[in-house]
Amino acid sequence: MIITIDGPAGSGKSTVAQTLAKRLGYRYIDTGAFYRAFTLKAMRVGVNMKDEALLKQLLQETKIELRNSEGGTRVFLDGKDVSEAIRTPEVTGNIHYIASRPALRERLVEQQRMASEGVSAVAEGRDTGTVVFPGAERKFYLDAGVEERARRRYLELLETTKGITYQDVLEELKKRDERDTSREASPLKMGDDFIYFDTTDLTSEEVVEALLKKI
Ligand code: DC
Repeated sequence: MIITIDGPAGSGKSTVAQTLAKRLGYRYIDTGAFYRAFTLKAMRVGVNMKDEALLKQLLQETKIELRNSEGGTRVFLDGKDVSEAIRTPEVTGNIHYIASRPALRERLVEQQRMASEGVSAVAEGRDTGTVVFPGAERKFYLDAGVEERARRRYLELLETTKGITYQDVLEELKKRDERDTSREASPLKMGDDFIYFDTTDLTSEEVVEALLKKI
């Protein structure tokens, strides 16, 4: 059984997908982590982000894995835990160089599918119901107003990022919405077979309960 949850940044996908996976005893697949981890690798190696041929080659030599631990799912890049390092604003700001390229997406999607082999899973991202797992048994789309999404993201970032302001977060989110929905390669969109939830006025627990009812 595969369940997919797509939606824009800050819609509550990650928390909901993780809780849902735990409640059902399914594996949690954070597809954004693959884009983040490879972006981090390219930044560390110092590859020109516009050099697609080199990025493709680098991706061939890159191993990204999700490993479950007691405190939640951890992200490993070439065997090293990068769970925190992939969440910095610098990484977020560079992801579009990777996420906009079909050839890179294809390879990252392969790795995401491999992560679900032989198990039931809850996958979360921008294209999990449309591209990664088109045959998923249940497909959800979580949404929320941009100000509410910025508020949630701001509260999260306050703990880790010095000097961050709400206005910065709001602007970054609007830019990311634009990139996620308008890119040619697998843009964020809702398919006909998706179930839509507006989470603006709901807690993540309420969303999880609503999804469980549908499942
Ligand atoms: O879910 P997230 O914030 O970790 O995702 C980071 C970026 O990765 C997102 O802005 C676009 C890209 N992404 C994507 O293109 N496709 C996905 N399925 C997941 C993420």
